[in-house]
Amino acid sequence: MDNNWWKESVVYQIYPRSFNDSNGDGIGDIRGIIEKVDYLKELGIDVVWLSPVYQSPNDDNGYDISDYKAIMDEFGTMEDWEELLEELHQRKMKLIMDLVVNHSSDEHEWFREARKSKDNPYRDYYIWRPGKDGKEPNNWKSSFSGSAWEFDEKTGEYYLHLFSKKQPDLNWENPTLRKEVYDMMKWWLNKGIDGFRMDVINFISKVPGLPDGEVKQGETYASGSKFFRDGPRIHEFLQEMNQEVLDSYDVMTVGEMPGVGVEEAKKYTDPARNELNMVFQFEHMDLDSGPNGKWDLKPLELTDLKENITKWQTGLNGVGWNSLYLNNHDQPRIVSRFGNDTEYRVESAKMLGTFLHMLQGTPYIYQGEEIGMTNIKFDSIEEYRDIETLNMYKEKVEENGEDPAKVMESIYAKGRDNARTPFQWNSQEHGGFTTGEPWMKVNPNYRTINAEQAVSDEHSIYHYYRELIRLRKEHPVIVYGDYQLILPNDDKIYAYMRNYKEEKLLVTANFSEEEVDFHLPEDISFTANEAIIGNYEGFEAGSYTGFTLKPYEVQVYKGV
Ligand code: NOJ
Repeated sequence: MDNNWWKESVVYQIYPRSFNDSNGDGIGDIRGIIEKVDYLKELGIDVVWLSPVYQSPNDDNGYDISDYKAIMDEFGTMEDWEELLEELHQRKMKLIMDLVVNHSSDEHEWFREARKSKDNPYRDYYIWRPGKDGKEPNNWKSSFSGSAWEFDEKTGEYYLHLFSKKQPDLNWENPTLRKEVYDMMKWWLNKGIDGFRMDVINFISKVPGLPDGEVKQGETYASGSKFFRDGPRIHEFLQEMNQEVLDSYDVMTVGEMPGVGVEEAKKYTDPARNELNMVFQFEHMDLDSGPNGKWDLKPLELTDLKENITKWQTGLNGVGWNSLYLNNHDQPRIVSRFGNDTEYRVESAKMLGTFLHMLQGTPYIYQGEEIGMTNIKFDSIEEYRDIETLNMYKEKVEENGEDPAKVMESIYAKGRDNARTPFQWNSQEHGGFTTGEPWMKVNPNYRTINAEQAVSDEHSIYHYYRELIRLRKEHPVIVYGDYQLILPNDDKIYAYMRNYKEEKLLVTANFSEEEVDFHLPEDISFTANEAIIGNYEGFEAGSYTGFTLKPYEVQVYKGV
């Protein structure tokens, strides 16, 4: 396996709208991020992934881009952005940008042109079809509810939008469109950025003919994912992108890939194929969903998590590379999800962070994770901002007559706004995020859960994360070791070994609120020379065959 800087790095994701507001308009901005670069440096991170800051009408908070080469007015100016890049680089941190090219905004110049006439030169930048029997061209549903097609009066055809109707899909079959994308990528790379996180990049190649999907009982539309996920030309497009653009730069790439499986991910991340450094897969984020998708709640079984993580850890070992994440701007807060955000908030947040950072792959921290921010429960749907949540509520409650209380329960558990409440900087009004009215309410627990408190308390989650990040720099086994699951059937303890040259690591994590006994299986030989990190006081190196783990306790030992 090759050594690479992006394998040794820890990435921190910033969702700019909710990070820090410098001008009191209630919306986070780039100058707000600049104010916090020392906070990021102190934490020890290596790379910042900035969610979209481009010009956008904000139908999907910047994931609907109307100008790929301009900064959103609410976030500041290009000069602000350049200053941010410089401030990060001065502190030896890198910056990767979000690349959202499965779709643009319907307010992008290309789409404005495209919808003017069927023979407009930009028409073929998007996916247009005539209706079928007076209805949509096929039965695919949008990820944000309803049909994936929108009828356009002017030219009498439909355009495809896998997300909102203000996010028309780009037509990657068109070489002119691809060239525009590659030129835009070069433009940003020449400004000095260090890579891209690529939004739903495994959706860009659609099966020709766009066949109908299978409609589930009781539903109007079908998932068409079989016909656009990991589509027929996806690997060709990514290889072309490398030849045309990425090969000339020393950058990192991570592709967001809903529904990707491990076999396909091997192809995407095998360096010999020259596609991507790593992918964001979602299987572990689907383990607490029932057969009807993310809103269909189901408790996590630890054995399912083990089976899944193990499949990815062993599957990509020596072939490609894993990304490691438990949080992002689309996921609920992990401490509320797989941990306990009340009695054991600090313990379980530290345990989950340790479990993740000790795996093989590049760890991603999502803003606020490092201080243990939790999910939000707003009383009314009016307080929510996310288009996915609002459309789903409308469809289920207003159109299908479902029980609003039940729908709210699923939003409390899975809604994307759980991750998007403003960052809690201190105990002042609005958590110090803004001096104005925040675009979305701050979680009321900011008085006790905030960065100022966390930085001043040496036992905080924040200081523990600093240590996790530091350890990665000290022990190559954390980065490069291979992974071995132990106790596959234990439903409370997740334990695994990492092995690298002469070094071994033992990670034992109690995912339950009970005290549990850990016994090292007889076929594993391990002597702990060093107690590396743990979330309770007083554990030390020794030759163990077993020990007791307190609620949510995690212990990591290095040895031989
Ligand atoms: C994935 C992004 O992470 C999400 O926030 C967005 O809504 C969709 N892609 C569409 O761009």
